[in-house]
Amino acid sequence: MKRRAMIGQPMNRVDGPLKVSGKATYAFEHWDDGIGQPLYGFIVGATIGRGRVRKINCSNAGQSPGVRFIMTHENAPPQGTPDLSVPSEYSRAFPTLTGTEVHHFGEPVALVVADTLEQARAAANLVNVEYSKEAGRFDLAANLDQAYAPKTANAGLPTDSAVGDFDGGFSSAPVKLDVTYTTPFELAQPMEPHTCMAAWDGENVTVWLACQMVGEARKAIAATLRIDESFVHIVSPFTGGGFGSKLGIHFETILAILGARAVDRPVKIALTRQQVFQMVSVRPATSQRVRLGATRDGRLVALGHDVTMSTSPIAEYTEQTAATTRSLYAAPNRLTRHRLARVDLPRGEDVRAPGDAPGLLAFESAMDEMAQTLKMDPIEFRILNEPTVDPERNVPFSERNLVECMRDGARRFGWEHRPRSPGVVRDGRFLIGYGMAAGIRMHFQAPTKVRVRMNRDRTAVVESDMTDIGTGTYTIITQVAADALGVSVSQVSVQLGNSAFPESAGSGGSWGASNSSVAVHRACVALNEKVKSMPEIPPEGVEAEGEIVYMKDDPNYEAYSISTYGAHFAEVGVDAVTGEIRVRRMLGVFSPGRILNHKTARSQLIGGMTFGISMALHEEAVVDTRSGAFANRDLAEYLVPVNADIPEIDVVFLDEFDDKANVLGVKGVGELGVCGSGAAVANAVFNATNARVRQFPITLDKLLPYLPPIDA
Ligand code: MOS
Repeated sequence: MKRRAMIGQPMNRVDGPLKVSGKATYAFEHWDDGIGQPLYGFIVGATIGRGRVRKINCSNAGQSPGVRFIMTHENAPPQGTPDLSVPSEYSRAFPTLTGTEVHHFGEPVALVVADTLEQARAAANLVNVEYSKEAGRFDLAANLDQAYAPKTANAGLPTDSAVGDFDGGFSSAPVKLDVTYTTPFELAQPMEPHTCMAAWDGENVTVWLACQMVGEARKAIAATLRIDESFVHIVSPFTGGGFGSKLGIHFETILAILGARAVDRPVKIALTRQQVFQMVSVRPATSQRVRLGATRDGRLVALGHDVTMSTSPIAEYTEQTAATTRSLYAAPNRLTRHRLARVDLPRGEDVRAPGDAPGLLAFESAMDEMAQTLKMDPIEFRILNEPTVDPERNVPFSERNLVECMRDGARRFGWEHRPRSPGVVRDGRFLIGYGMAAGIRMHFQAPTKVRVRMNRDRTAVVESDMTDIGTGTYTIITQVAADALGVSVSQVSVQLGNSAFPESAGSGGSWGASNSSVAVHRACVALNEKVKSMPEIPPEGVEAEGEIVYMKDDPNYEAYSISTYGAHFAEVGVDAVTGEIRVRRMLGVFSPGRILNHKTARSQLIGGMTFGISMALHEEAVVDTRSGAFANRDLAEYLVPVNADIPEIDVVFLDEFDDKANVLGVKGVGELGVCGSGAAVANAVFNATNARVRQFPITLDKLLPYLPPIDA
């Protein structure tokens, strides 16, 4: 009897009923009678951007109703400091309230713990802080010339790359493009704010945490408290979105833990939305110079991508903005560089496809400019420069069907109907434009372990500290386990997000689904072998473990260039009078390896393409350069697309199996949709208006000067 393969099926989320009935418990909602009634913490943030706390007076706050405890730098315990020799920044100590120095607006200066949230918040407003203000560096543009070269870029990628002779190749190229794009500060802003509840029991602390990586959070907490990580227990079965901002822990986690220890009661803290803007992390703003040199018939001879971005002086972070430029197109002479300029703003951390998303926004817009200069179809221009091997590493691609994505997408989208000249096609008031862009996202592999147990009744339990941040982890792991064990999905139960389970790399960098599913598959294969060798399953069940190793220990990472690809298409209408931009439809055709669940994968891609629209047209955290605060620090003023901004989005997957990536043929999909989609929208805006806006986001005020004169 042949069973229908479960992998790939568009199965509904196994945790869907829990989610819609409010029974999926998030960190802040956790309730356990055994640990007693929790107290509430509220954080007081600095109201200056740079300087020192000179005096802090808590007497009014301390007398406020319900207040149990106030912590400032005066009574905060000593804590570990970040050990820069630890490769992952997210495993390092995160000391909080340990000094008088204020590094950025909103940095915590006090914690108030009270019986209720309202009491804590009211008392927090009574904490009186006197500051000595110092001149801060808040204006990135004014500090770009101070930029320096970091030792490496994010994910251990090289800071620079150079092949051939870029300067020579570029200067002698018959057709040249030299343009600079800027991208603004952006914030991850998950729906669930950053939250933590902590409870101590003797030397042990249990931490209910909104997080993406349980193992890293545990290490960071242990390093901050200077205790062994075996005393730290993390519970995180559900996380309400992360988008990179929950890869690491932040102030609220350490303050809940320290507060709970001080009062010997559980303490919970949730950041307010405004605090999520000022107390977490940002995607660095960038200035990206793209230089392309080509022959008259469209062959690239030189390609350069120079990125200067912001960094916090106290926590260096370098988005790998030019990393995908290293393998996307062929050209004999190449140069990519990352530089950092210090500004006194919240630390930079990963946000939605770090590097690749803002890098492609600029680079794929520049490719469109070059196609326009060459009077070539942007798809034919890209296909002409399709490399046969990775052009900088000189190794074969594992599986790359970018050309097929572009051709298939062109057919489905009706690319032949696009306006051939920009700014001429109209539909009533609207100028109509089509745009496309290529997408690429690196495929990462990080160490992940899982355990699977088969019970006597043929039910199976999968355990891992892997997280489900809304992406569908519970569901795909159920499918992979059922498939490998030869049981139905109803026989599989998946337990995630607990540090008592085997350690995974968590959810991030698009690696979560592929890492954990491969580890689950291997555990199930090992379990099948064990079960086969036994006359019957013993009463306690049979267990086996499976794992996947770090990419640097996997020979295929050396031997192949392993990425995922896609082609994005967008049609926009731009109101010829007001400049209002409406995205009318979008299509993405993707080459991401095998798909584990067509429904959850499609949802990830639609979400990613929505972020692309957002990066092209909406998002920008505006720095008030007098105070160092984000002027638009709430979701009313920091624009993100709403339903009315999102048109029909169509997602197509090529039928693939990347056997060089892993035994399941599966790679990342989570962030691929963000990679290139923004540029497709921007290129469509150009095609509609003949206006090339190089300062993202493209807002209507930037288009107004280029719109046609209003008819009398
Ligand atoms: Mo992702 S921005 O690496 O969680």
